[in-house]
Amino acid sequence: MIILDEKNRVFTLHTHGTTYQMKADRHDVLVHTYYGPRVSGGDLSYLIQYADRGFSPNPSGAGRDRTYSLDTTPQEYSTCGVGDFRLPSLELELEDGSLLCDLRYTGHRLEKGKYSLPGLPAFFGGEEWETLAVTLSDAAAQVEVELLYGVLAERDLITRAARITNRGSRKLRLRQAASLCLDFHGGDRDHDLITFNGCHAMERCLDRSPLRPGIQSVGSVRGTSSHHHNPFVILCEKDAGEDHGLCIGAALLYSGNFQAAAERTQLENDRLTLGIHPFHFCWTLAPGEAFVTPEAAMVCSTRGFGEMSRQFHRAIREHLLRDPLAGRRHPVLINNWEATEFDFTADKLVEIAGAAAKLGIELFVMDDGWFGKRDDDYSSLGDWQVDQRKLPGGLTALVPRIRELGMQFGIWVEPEMVSQDSDLYRQHPDWALGAPGRSQTLGRSQLVLDFSRREVREHVYGELKKVLDSADIRYVKWDMNRSLTDVWSAALPPERQGEVYHRYVLGLYDMLEQLHRDYPNILIEGCSGGGGRFDAGMLYYTPQIWCSDNTDAIDRLRIQYGTSFCYPVATMGAHVSAVPNAQTGRTTPMETRGVVAMSGTFGYEMDLNKCTAAETDTAASQVAEYKKLWRLIGEGDYYRLTDPWRDGPFTAWEQVSPDRREALVSVVTHAARATPPFLALRLAGLDPDLRYRVEGREGSWPGDLLMNGGWPMPMPVGDYQAFQLHLYAE
Ligand code: DGJ
Repeated sequence: MIILDEKNRVFTLHTHGTTYQMKADRHDVLVHTYYGPRVSGGDLSYLIQYADRGFSPNPSGAGRDRTYSLDTTPQEYSTCGVGDFRLPSLELELEDGSLLCDLRYTGHRLEKGKYSLPGLPAFFGGEEWETLAVTLSDAAAQVEVELLYGVLAERDLITRAARITNRGSRKLRLRQAASLCLDFHGGDRDHDLITFNGCHAMERCLDRSPLRPGIQSVGSVRGTSSHHHNPFVILCEKDAGEDHGLCIGAALLYSGNFQAAAERTQLENDRLTLGIHPFHFCWTLAPGEAFVTPEAAMVCSTRGFGEMSRQFHRAIREHLLRDPLAGRRHPVLINNWEATEFDFTADKLVEIAGAAAKLGIELFVMDDGWFGKRDDDYSSLGDWQVDQRKLPGGLTALVPRIRELGMQFGIWVEPEMVSQDSDLYRQHPDWALGAPGRSQTLGRSQLVLDFSRREVREHVYGELKKVLDSADIRYVKWDMNRSLTDVWSAALPPERQGEVYHRYVLGLYDMLEQLHRDYPNILIEGCSGGGGRFDAGMLYYTPQIWCSDNTDAIDRLRIQYGTSFCYPVATMGAHVSAVPNAQTGRTTPMETRGVVAMSGTFGYEMDLNKCTAAETDTAASQVAEYKKLWRLIGEGDYYRLTDPWRDGPFTAWEQVSPDRREALVSVVTHAARATPPFLALRLAGLDPDLRYRVEGREGSWPGDLLMNGGWPMPMPVGDYQAFQLHLYAE
């Protein structure tokens, strides 16, 4: 609920559990007064303290009042060059070369429903949303900034974006435009910053550090959101934990360069900014033109990380994913990549699919290697024609053979890329990103197509379309296997080269939107060498994303744990693969691999013909179990019961149905030890007043007991054992 106090120019955004407030103060500066547990409201600006602080300058309008300074005032959208020395949200460069920016409140409007951001991913929905738009202007620069706030009360979610319009008669340049600026004041909270970091095949590893004086930041300048840092961060109180304490999660719906920065200032007031990374960003706005920032979304929880995550999960599932199979089970899939890499024939694929079909697997995905002359990763990207040597008769011959097995067919593509050894590159070498007079840097021996250019996108889309129209294709895996370098576009003048990174992302979104529009029934899985572009922006176009190229069940415990802080289980691509694992060399039991992959989109990535009879039986029962439990797993509330980064004896998590009548607890034990201690696992999220049965066990137990006394852990023999408890209310 948004409450406007027109007289005092106070804007209060209430969600069910939180309150967010801003006010246009006596100098028309839009100050931030409060974000935290829900309070009754009123004008909370009394919380802001004013005092003369040395070297904190005073705006001219403050006259002789030395206590008023932009350097010490909490603001909604920070500026620079006129007295605020902290992290800026907006940096402008005018034609006269000045780099100043001073924003003052000029108006506001309130709307039912949710604003949209054409060309960009955004949360959507109907009457359950409200929108507040507050307009700020820089009179000298003749720039208008419209701050957009979307409020989804039930999910404690507030979205933000900024539309920056050149209202003057001269060109200007944007050097930075954040999506979110969040100021804290009063020094009342000692914050920790939580970020999710890693590398290829080990993504989203959680790091928690206290804020120190100065700026701490994570970000990406790789052109994608990256494996290395995720555009989701948490600021929390020192003692916040999984089920207690105040924490604020902030996600950027963006898949390119980003920066999340937290600053502990001179007065120990913290500021968080989140948005497009200012590295190589410079956007020219002609008179009348507007720039819209990507959307950011915040959830504040007063009950720890678990509740914050569950609110993000629900909001993402209900208001961000555009899933052709919404409300229905996604098919259990088998992908041939780890089984064959590039070395396959049609018969081999049918053989792999055949073994899978017998176990109830429903979708066969043909991965990399089916086009051009792609016998390895040195060639053919861009030549999206079936390799007749491997697949005689093309998809027209192969797909019916898969369909005859009772399976659907899916296909891998990497549309943003071109190999130097390809017909496309030979015809259009200038279509790849690259600066004049320099040879380009290769990544996985490939170049990046300039997706900022319409003609490039149109060509690639046309080729893709031919493939998709040539057979009954139900699924597309959209891969992207390198970071951007040599970022220069032949289609833009020198002064606009600072736009290429962002135009690339807009081009990508444009093409994904077209794909979504033209093929509303195709399920698209995002991928970037695994989880290199696992962000809320991509989820708008690809409702599931391959979580990591690392399929080792034990590493996956950590990767999926980190991913779960923002993103729902139903979006995480997770497969059972062969052992010893291709990435780690580790051997884990088939049961364990199944339990871990089941907390994801579930599938297999191996040749099941090579399994023992016992493994085949296990796979068959896993598939059956997943089909039985998919709704609970995908739509249930997710509880992290332990932290896999702590050296505990096991990792456990739980899904609970929204009515709390059913739950699935999954446990994976770590390295075995002799004479293990007696341990109990305390469950969560159950109804304390209901009694629960546990599948396969006699008797029933009250919810309050299971949550407080817990459930005795079995004492398995051997490393990396797993088991599940399926509970249902009497
Ligand atoms: C990277 C992906 O993450 C893998 O699953 C696989 O599709 C390869 N690319 C294929 O080149």
